[in-house]
This record gives sequence, structure tokens and C-alpha cells, in this order.
Amino acid sequence: PTPVFLDCDTGVDDALAIAWLVASPGVDLVGVGAVSGNVAAATGARNTLDLLAMLGREDVPVHLGAHDFLDHPFTGGAPHVHGADGTGGVALPRAVTEVSGTSAAQALVDAARARPGELRLLAIGPLTNVALALEVEPELPRLVREVVIMGGAAMAPGNVTAVAEANIHNDPLAAARVLDAGFDLTVVGLDVTMHQRFEEEHRRALLAAGTPVTRALGEVLEFYFAFYAQRFGRPCSVLHDPLAAGVLTGDVALALAPRVPVEVDTSDGPGRGQTIADLRGLYHGFPDHFPGAPRVALEVEGDFGAVLLERLLT
Ligand code: BDR
Ligand code: CA
Repeated sequence: PTPVFLDCDTGVDDALAIAWLVASPGVDLVGVGAVSGNVAAATGARNTLDLLAMLGREDVPVHLGAHDFLDHPFTGGAPHVHGADGTGGVALPRAVTEVSGTSAAQALVDAARARPGELRLLAIGPLTNVALALEVEPELPRLVREVVIMGGAAMAPGNVTAVAEANIHNDPLAAARVLDAGFDLTVVGLDVTMHQRFEEEHRRALLAAGTPVTRALGEVLEFYFAFYAQRFGRPCSVLHDPLAAGVLTGDVALALAPRVPVEVDTSDGPGRGQTIADLRGLYHGFPDHFPGAPRVALEVEGDFGAVLLERLLT
């Protein structure tokens, strides 16, 4: 199995991504960092501990990360999307496990140093902890094998402003540093995540499967579905974080994912948090013009909702 470190802001779709990683046979989940985003880092860490315990993985260490972002304080997250508790108002059984004594940034560095060239990093929240890890260990991009982030929008509209996606908008400075650091990095943003759905039939199948975890996930999804119902006219959700997890595990085929430079708008203007991907090469038929640049997912193949459900049910 491939060693994976997860950094997240659990969060309803983060919870699905965690369940996906635990259910994926090729993954050795070596640690999880918690960052503020959907909820405060401490709340996300609690949700992650509780979820991992339900999944029978209380052995996976959870590390508390940054409460505030690099250049501004955390101001309350996205309770209208994920519930004030991050789990859609559903109280998960409280695990006896607690966060480790090591910060998320240090734990990521330690995990990378312990297995040079092997670790894969999945970052599905704001990139604050990863940016802090780069301060601890500037060689991190050489120590880590691959990074997949959920964040940004290259051509799609934003989801928190006209142009910005939530994870990047929460900490644009951190995102700029991580995208610039020289990782072998894949950006899984709104261009692809908005097109992959979980429907009511998927949620009902989780509830009907009746294990404590599938039932909890089905219940947690109800609040998230109600948020997306305002947009899609029926209860359902898009699959941001699980899709990024599926890319990391190699279960999602990237139909179009050119390597192109990506800049992040770190200003305080209307473009704050925008990921500006230089896609001009696409028009000229040389999409992979920039070999060292991030890979930006623009299209994926298949129906990931069905794949996700199947794995969560096994
Ligand atoms: C991203 O922001 C968070 O709300 C979700 O968990 C996901 O990581 C989507 O923009
Ligand atoms: Ca997230």
C-alpha cells in the first residue's frame, strides 16, 4: 500500500473522503492533519477522530493544525453548508482518542522524512498546514512523492465569490506558496468536482446498508443535500473532496489535465483567492507546455458517485 497523509477540515465531504481512503486497499493512512475551514481546526479534528474510530481506525494519529490562516483569522467557516458542527447537526459517537501532541505541519514533515520519495499528500482543506510544513522543511517537495489538492477553479465560476473556491479563498497566501513550491501536484477543483454527484438514491443506499458508519454518513449527508437542493432543485450533492481522494488513489481517470502554471490572487480585491491557470496552450494544441507545473484537472471520466458508493458499501 502507498503511504498517504491527509490534511482536511472535516466537513461533510471531507468525511466521505476519509471513509474512501480507509476503504481503499492500496492506501496506508499514516496520519491526518486538521486545519480550519468548514469548521475550526479543533472541531474538524474532533470530527476526524470520531469518524476514524467509527471506521475502526483509531490507530491513525490526528494532528491539530492551524486555527488561523496565514494572513487573517478564521472567522467561522461554512455552517450553512456543513452545519455548525461540520457533521450536518448529527452527533457522531464520541471517540476516546484525542489529538496527538505533534502539530499537523510537523507531523507532515515527519511522515515525509520517514519515507523519502514515497508519501502522497491529499489536502482537502485550506492549505495553511502545508504552507507551514514548507517553512519547517523547505525540501518537502523533494521528500513527498505526490500532492493532490481539492481547490480552485480554472474555468468554472467560484463557489464563495464570483471567481474563488472556498479552500483557496480561505488562505490564498498559503495556496500560492504551495502551488509555487515545486511539488508534483494535481489540482482537483470546481471544474471537475461540480460535475460529480451523490443523489438521494446513493444516500438511501448508505442508510439501508445499516452499518454504524454508512448510517452516520447517510444521516450527515442530509444537511449537505439540503444546501445543494437550493442550487440543483433536488436533494443531492456534488463530490468535492471524495473526487480528489479518488484521483489520489488512481480510481479517477483524468481525461483532460494539462500541466500549466497556476497563480493565486492574494490581493484584497474582488479576485482574492482566484486560481489563474494559464490555459492558453490548450488553444494551440500543446497543453503540456510546462513540464514542472501543476496538473489541473479539467475533465474526468465516469460517474464517481457510483464508484464511491460501491467502495463505501464494501
Ligand atoms: C471545498 O470547501 C469545503 O467546504 C469542502 O469541504 C471542500 O473541500 C469545496 O469548495
Ligand atoms: Ca474540505
